[in-house]
Amino acid sequence: MSTPLVLGIETSCDETGVGLVSGGVLLGDALASSMDEHARFGGVVPEVAARAHLEAMAPMVRTALQRAEVDLADVTAVAVTAGPGLSPALQVGLAAGKAYALAAGVPLYAVHHLAGHAAVDVLDHGPLPERCVALIVSGGHTSLLGVGDLARDEVVHLGDTVDDAAGEAFDKVARLIGLPYPGGPAIDRAAREGDPHAIAFPRPLTGPSDPPWTFSFSGLKTAVARWVEAHDGPIPIPDVAASFQEAVADTLARKAVAACLDQGADTLLMVGGVAANSRVRGLVEERCAAAGLTLRVPPIRLCTDNGAMIAALGDLLVRADVEPDPLDVAADPRARL
Ligand code: KG4
Ligand code: ZN
Repeated sequence: MSTPLVLGIETSCDETGVGLVSGGVLLGDALASSMDEHARFGGVVPEVAARAHLEAMAPMVRTALQRAEVDLADVTAVAVTAGPGLSPALQVGLAAGKAYALAAGVPLYAVHHLAGHAAVDVLDHGPLPERCVALIVSGGHTSLLGVGDLARDEVVHLGDTVDDAAGEAFDKVARLIGLPYPGGPAIDRAAREGDPHAIAFPRPLTGPSDPPWTFSFSGLKTAVARWVEAHDGPIPIPDVAASFQEAVADTLARKAVAACLDQGADTLLMVGGVAANSRVRGLVEERCAAAGLTLRVPPIRLCTDNGAMIAALGDLLVRADVEPDPLDVAADPRARL
């Protein structure tokens, strides 16, 4: 079989992502975000996101094709996120994916968003090992996945957050202590001047009888709120930031390393916006090294939602000769692994 050229489309939330991948190589991609349009509503509004996807889709496809220096006629397959995600947003991407597949006369692959997050690392670091654990930590997800052969759908959901995602906790705590949005980078910066052991914030769900792969960050956020309320005088922002960040990093590192050992995986894959956090990265790296595990983190640009990750997964499926999906495949906002 000649090398495939896969057009990937991602629209599960507020990013319209398009990527072109061929044989494990990213040829070009383009990304538009409607994040600013949601700011005044305090969260992503599905209908607003869907309309923005509709407006951005054709320009992003055009830009990605130009950057990759290929034509739509060169594309040999289309991959598109079918779920999980916001239903109206997914519908736009899926409809576009079907239209491009039909126009180019090529097969369509409707794929799982989280599997795409795991697949993206092959673009920079080569094939994944036979077995690994993926920790996906962003504003929208906090998930642990057991990952085998992605092309054979060997992905299991180990656990998720029961309330806030890790990135959401960073954003909410930042607001609490008067730091700007997005809170993650602001806390990261403030924490550099602080003492991570100044305040003993809880490590949620890390007790011996707690579910090992489940996360919960809303109690930690409340603990920070209570501490701030009870504190007399000016808030020591760097210490609060550093102590909160340490609690998140410690919780993520403990659970991720334990999951690798449980799954017999020698590699941890970490993706998502929170993977950019210097302490999360540092501590996870330290604990992985101590446990004899290899840590793989894609470049931050590809850690967040994008089209390249969907194209990367589609490219794996095509190369493994996986049967494509019919053109009447439906979006699945609650898709499970
Ligand atoms: O993956 P991402 O860009 O997008 C979605 O979740 O859709 O993740 C964004 C999240 C935000 O909550 C942001 O605060 C967090 O990632 N983030 C960080 C850092 N950079 C971004 N959190 C902690 N430390 C950072 N340096
Ligand atoms: Zn995502």
